[in-house]
Amino acid sequence: MKVLITKRIPQTGIDILKENNLEIIIPDQDNPSKEEWLENCKKADIILNVGKNRYDQSFFDHCPNVKAISLFSVGFDQVDINEATKRKIPVGNTPDVLSRATSDVAFLLMQMVSRKVNYNIEKVKSGNWKDFDALEELGQELYGKTLGILGLGRIGFEMTEKCKAAFGMNIIYHNRNKNETAEQELGARYVSFEDLVLESDVISIHANYTPEQANIFNKETFAKMKSNLIFINTARGGFHNEADLYEALQSGRIWGAGLDVTNPEPMNESNPLLHLPNVCILPHIGSATLEARNGMAKIAAENVVAFSKGIPMPHCANPEVYQ
Ligand code: DGY
Repeated sequence: MKVLITKRIPQTGIDILKENNLEIIIPDQDNPSKEEWLENCKKADIILNVGKNRYDQSFFDHCPNVKAISLFSVGFDQVDINEATKRKIPVGNTPDVLSRATSDVAFLLMQMVSRKVNYNIEKVKSGNWKDFDALEELGQELYGKTLGILGLGRIGFEMTEKCKAAFGMNIIYHNRNKNETAEQELGARYVSFEDLVLESDVISIHANYTPEQANIFNKETFAKMKSNLIFINTARGGFHNEADLYEALQSGRIWGAGLDVTNPEPMNESNPLLHLPNVCILPHIGSATLEARNGMAKIAAENVVAFSKGIPMPHCANPEVYQ
């Protein structure tokens, strides 16, 4: 079977594919254009996808030879899952191995924003570090504050554990399903989305993104938040309305924001959010550790190998295809 790897991945993954005698197609360029990507896809049976390519009805119509997709990501929002399932195309993903790394970034952003780190680093760099002032640059402490998690799955659980251990934070969450383990082990309390917005001192998003959740953090929700609210998004940029977030931050309606994801990505360097002192933005590096990326390469390759052997992918976003 022919496997297209859409962009480079750690060698661990390539080795697994080679050991299993799979024919690998690697694009000539590091960053193939959309046209090159599509041409390459037409030649492949399985796609090991790295990056933001969109797999929807039009894609599947253009590439009828494609029988399986293995994503190099835990998120699968770039695939029209219903369409793939209808066509019996399994879609693999890479959960667990990046939960620690991604929650580390959420935890890092939360602290950076609470202590205005980004702004203070700029202050030092630009020669504006002045004499000690007891009333200047005061952050807020996180001890005993309320952390609101949207999407308490694996990554949200890791974030919750860290916040509980480090700062004794109270945990509330909103999810599709209740997370009994988090309730028992971490004292997490299930609340409605409205209460999450009203009660939290920190909101951190860890949910799977679906189009129905586009802009659920908007003018109306920001208006209801506490004024000390720290907004953390390491999931997908589509969850927040960027203009409304800018307004909430610029006017001081909320305390600050830490974003590892934006909409679109990459963020344009002239984006006004970048110039706000209460914002810290990272270039989608949640899973960017050696450990996580090697783990992702291994799982993505194992999903491909399983499919090539006619067995279910060990990590599949649409396991219904096997029923
Ligand atoms: C994921 O795995 O979904 C990360 O956000 C990288 O895309």
